[in-house]
Amino acid sequence: MLRRKVLVTAALPYANAELHIGHARSTYIPADIYVRYRRLKGDEAYYVCGTDEHGTPISVMAEKLKVKPLEITEKIYERDLADFKKLNISFDNFSRTTRPLHYETTQWFFKELYSKGLIYEREVELPYCEKCARYLPDRYVYGTCPYCGFEDARGDECDVCGRALSIGELVNPRCVVCKSPAINKTSKHWFLKLSSFQDWLTEWVTNTDGLLPVTGKNYLINQYLQPGLEDVCISRDLDWGVPIPLPDAEGKVCYVWFDAPIGYVDSTKELFQKLGDQDGWREYWLRDNTELIHFIGKGILYHHTLFWPAVLKGVGYRLPTVIAAFSYGNLEGKKMSKSRGWYLSLKDFLDIFEADALRYYWIAASPLTEDADFVFDDFSKKYNNELADTLGNFIHRVLVFCAKYYNSTIPGVGEEKELEKIEKIIEETMIKVENSIEGFEFREGLLSIIGLARFGNKLFNDNEPWHNIKNNPSKAADTISVCLKLVHAIAVLINPYLPHTSLKILDMLNLNSENLKWSDIMKRFPENHKIGSATPLFHKLEESQISRLKNTVYSRLQSKNDSTSQQVDIKDIANLGLKIGLIVKAELVEDEKDFFRLEIKISDRDIICTKERLTSSLKPKDLEGLKVILNPNSFRKAENMWSILKVKCKEGYKPVKLDRDISVGAVVS
Ligand code: MSP
Ligand code: ZN
Repeated sequence: MLRRKVLVTAALPYANAELHIGHARSTYIPADIYVRYRRLKGDEAYYVCGTDEHGTPISVMAEKLKVKPLEITEKIYERDLADFKKLNISFDNFSRTTRPLHYETTQWFFKELYSKGLIYEREVELPYCEKCARYLPDRYVYGTCPYCGFEDARGDECDVCGRALSIGELVNPRCVVCKSPAINKTSKHWFLKLSSFQDWLTEWVTNTDGLLPVTGKNYLINQYLQPGLEDVCISRDLDWGVPIPLPDAEGKVCYVWFDAPIGYVDSTKELFQKLGDQDGWREYWLRDNTELIHFIGKGILYHHTLFWPAVLKGVGYRLPTVIAAFSYGNLEGKKMSKSRGWYLSLKDFLDIFEADALRYYWIAASPLTEDADFVFDDFSKKYNNELADTLGNFIHRVLVFCAKYYNSTIPGVGEEKELEKIEKIIEETMIKVENSIEGFEFREGLLSIIGLARFGNKLFNDNEPWHNIKNNPSKAADTISVCLKLVHAIAVLINPYLPHTSLKILDMLNLNSENLKWSDIMKRFPENHKIGSATPLFHKLEESQISRLKNTVYSRLQSKNDSTSQQVDIKDIANLGLKIGLIVKAELVEDEKDFFRLEIKISDRDIICTKERLTSSLKPKDLEGLKVILNPNSFRKAENMWSILKVKCKEGYKPVKLDRDISVGAVVS
């Protein structure tokens, strides 16, 4: 069979913060499942990634901490590496965008595009701080968001309404470092002529088979292609980044989104250097006989399907075959956000649970095209029902039975007819899993593997081998050999999804997992094969494990809120028109146990609102009689208010546990 060659990349994580479980959901776990599958199929498949270390979030942070940016990114690099290892992400290479090879490669790309006339120079007006004597790119400037009025919006994005902002859009721009008002000053910059790729990109995005699902195509067409592509400024007045490789470009570096995707190329170069094949990378970036698959989160689709392909096309490189852009992982119904302190870090999770628990949950929770929600209670339910009770229990009871009654030796191959029947079922599942992974719909495949375990449990129950072992021993032997066949098939099928679990099962079956192949799914056991000893695969989750996990999240939120509370002026609070209300009645919303319906009394009226229930341990009666802060003006703005008021309010005021943003849903009087 033809050996396909595939290069899989995963978006390079920013080296300004630790990884959280959401990153794993959209990007790193899906890419890992895919690449593991392709390797099992016998394809030549490589998985590259690295840290994205430039950009103003990192340099601003470094200035605030009075350290060099590299000191921050160094630590994050090591930390990401350890987190990914623990999550069983099988990178072939994990590089950094601060390595010399990256600088060299990025500068080559720049010069190549420049020499082809695809990059041009232009003077632009930019915010400038006279006190600090410097320009204020991206995160160096903050001010009022012109869309929602939030006063601390950053130069490139508003944290409250989530809108991307372009240069000059902020009202009252100020310097992040010294807080002085910014003035406008001209500066010379370089632009990528993205507009000149308009027709070609429209055609490429629309007509490339398998590149993107229809929803992705439509999004790009409606948001960017139909309105018309704009040229992109790819330089910044900064010293943190890859220097612009032109003689008259002192103090200018490449914009982080220009250099970051090039990291895919140099990470591949680095990989092949390690493999002792200096030119090996060329096959993946210059020829069309290979496949190039980018795994990303949905938020960076523009960069990977428009900007980056234009750069590749511009320098005459090959184009991506597939852009697998997946949805986000939220936490208890809310978007994870580092700045708000609302996230579950990968490390905190993996300190308590095994990688496969997360790998399973994120894929099983919902299709990758939809956001998934990490809900603590759901997580334990899924783990206990699907991993422990269905998968783990099936495997355990079969192996224990085989050890106890057959001295661990597989009782023959069983009746040929029975075995063939099972092999047919296994083959059908195998095809389902193949179609699912090759079609980038990983959930279907995983669910059909769990379905196979469920089927095995039923078969075991229906055939009652524990009775037959006395009354009808040959029937019992048939049942056990057929079940063992299922156990083996499951071990291989589940390998791309839950690699650690797969190896544990193979080990218990006393099978060598070293050169595991996808086709092993259909392989029969050698005659008289002796299995190893069985240990439970998954222990039921304990309440204490879940509370430890919850604690890591809520205590971070708490300390974040306590630290922001000190910076608020009481006058600002007075101007908000906030009200104190008394919760007179609380109940759970019918059919929606995740929401409270609250009746709240305030001085001049009664209101009813619904409020998300952050934890199931919070009961309606815990809320009745409490006073809460209400922000009648803005739902979004209210998000940060809770903590502020908790500190500043007078005695007698008790905050609702774990909640930050009670806000008005509906006014009824
Ligand atoms: N540095 C850029 C990518 C450059 S690629 C040349 C970046 N970094 S990131 O650290 O913010 O995100 C890493 C990956 O996780 C990206 O694919 C991003 O879309 C994804 N996600 C970021 N936040 C996420 C969630 N809350 N949930 C799921 N995926 C998320 O983007
Ligand atoms: Zn300043």
